[in-house]
Amino acid sequence: MKTIVLAMAAILVVPFLVHAEGGSSAAPVAAVSIKAEQQQAMEAVRALAGRLQGALKKAMKEGGPVHAIAVCNTRARAISEEIGSRRGLTVGRVSLKNRNPANAPTAWEKKVLEEFEKEKREGRPVASLTYAAVVRTASGRQFRFMKAIPTRAICTMCHGTDIAPAVKKELDRLYPGDRARGFRPGDIRGAFVVTRDIR
Ligand code: HEC
Repeated sequence: MKTIVLAMAAILVVPFLVHAEGGSSAAPVAAVSIKAEQQQAMEAVRALAGRLQGALKKAMKEGGPVHAIAVCNTRARAISEEIGSRRGLTVGRVSLKNRNPANAPTAWEKKVLEEFEKEKREGRPVASLTYAAVVRTASGRQFRFMKAIPTRAICTMCHGTDIAPAVKKELDRLYPGDRARGFRPGDIRGAFVVTRDIR
């Protein structure tokens, strides 16, 4: 598995060219710089993390954690979609133990999340765990990026092992299938995911 990660790392630094179909004399039609893609993805992740943190802080100040749950519930997706559409990509959050069913990982996202867990067990800092690749899809190619999200102390108020009764009650009401509890500071809470279709 270690070699897979190294291979991923190698992909990052090799910008590659795609040649026009049907002839070796054709000039390259599109150069994809993984580095540039990765930079854009990181910017989208930073924008999303910043907006979510800001919304959470504001909501906590205004009405405490129960009110803040409602803000996460109604705003997180809208904020993700707004940032994604403005930048011509999709950005969101996934987790192996997701709260919102819409944040369940796809097959490839699950694999990366499991790889992150393994890397963490091997001693790598959660904040340093990223993945990037370009893959072929049915409609062309897709750039894929993920970045692990560490659990911080403040997160345990709604994702931890000892959630206050009023908070628990509201979570039970909104998320009957909630799996995003029992986290401790330092755990991997999930990951940001960015995808962009490349023509
Ligand atoms: C006030 C309660 C609250 C706090 C504090 C909180 N969250 Fe959440 N979190 C939620 C809710 C509610 C959702 C579901 C959002 C939705 O429906 O899209 C969620 C969803 C998530 C998700 C998406 C995956 C999933 O499980 O659905 C991630 C990742 C996440 N939170 C990380 C964090 C991190 C990291 C922190 C600390 C910086 C944090 N949360 C703090 C309430 C909270």
